Amino acid sequence: MMEDPEFIAQQLRKPSGDFARTIAEKMGTGNRPLYDLTLDFMEIVNYDSILEVGFGNGEHFSDLMAKAEHLQVIGIDYSAEMTALASSNNGTLIESGLLKLFTGSSDKLPFHENTFDVIFCNMVIYFWDDPTEHLSEIKRVLKPEGMFYTGMRSRKSMLQFPFTKYGFNLYKVEEWKSILESNGFQVVDEIQKKDPAFDDFGNKVQLESVCIAAEAR
Ligand SMILES: C[S@@+](CC[C@H](N)C(=O)[O-])C[C@H]1O[C@@H](n2cnc3c(N)ncnc32)[C@H](O)[C@@H]1O
Repeated sequence: MMEDPEFIAQQLRKPSGDFARTIAEKMGTGNRPLYDLTLDFMEIVNYDSILEVGFGNGEHFSDLMAKAEHLQVIGIDYSAEMTALASSNNGTLIESGLLKLFTGSSDKLPFHENTFDVIFCNMVIYFWDDPTEHLSEIKRVLKPEGMFYTGMRSRKSMLQFPFTKYGFNLYKVEEWKSILESNGFQVVDEIQKKDPAFDDFGNKVQLESVCIAAEAR
């Protein structure tokens, strides 16, 4: 199964069934450099209310919590398997009430408007067939002047993987910035960094991690 690119693509879009844990482990390792970049880049202050869309295995939540004090973090992922896995990986944070995880989709966010200071997602935008539906929901639940951070790999980076032929909406960094701008966000900053190279089924792969900061206008 790990060698069938179409199956991998479906699982990355929405991990499900027996394979969900395996793919979550792969995503967790492969996307760790992007989380390191994003967590370092995001401006987070004490008492911020933060939403992550598409949290996967959720192994990064303790690092996010360590960025400031009294953070209130909410995660939403439309894979019930990811909600269960990330919940079991973060039992103490959930019991403390500082982290809440939900199953649901970013085009229908179950939150009031003006709720969050910061919203972010890593490696999720490829699966938004109509980004406007998701960005308008994100804008609705962000506080005025709240920040939305997109963690991604560029189109060129992603084309190194055979599975991206199957249902991935890939973007050059400039293309994604222009989509943000035409959906009510102002791009204010960005960072790019090469990940360490690794071996992917005999091919040497090197990705570039990117994080774009955009303010709700
Ligand atoms: C490729 S994985 C990335 C997981 C994690 N953010 C990472 O970087 O390792 C994409 C994740 O986003 C979730 N996802 C995709 N589209 C979503 C949507 N519209 N709403 C909520 N979650 C979504 C999937 O279920 C999956 O867990």
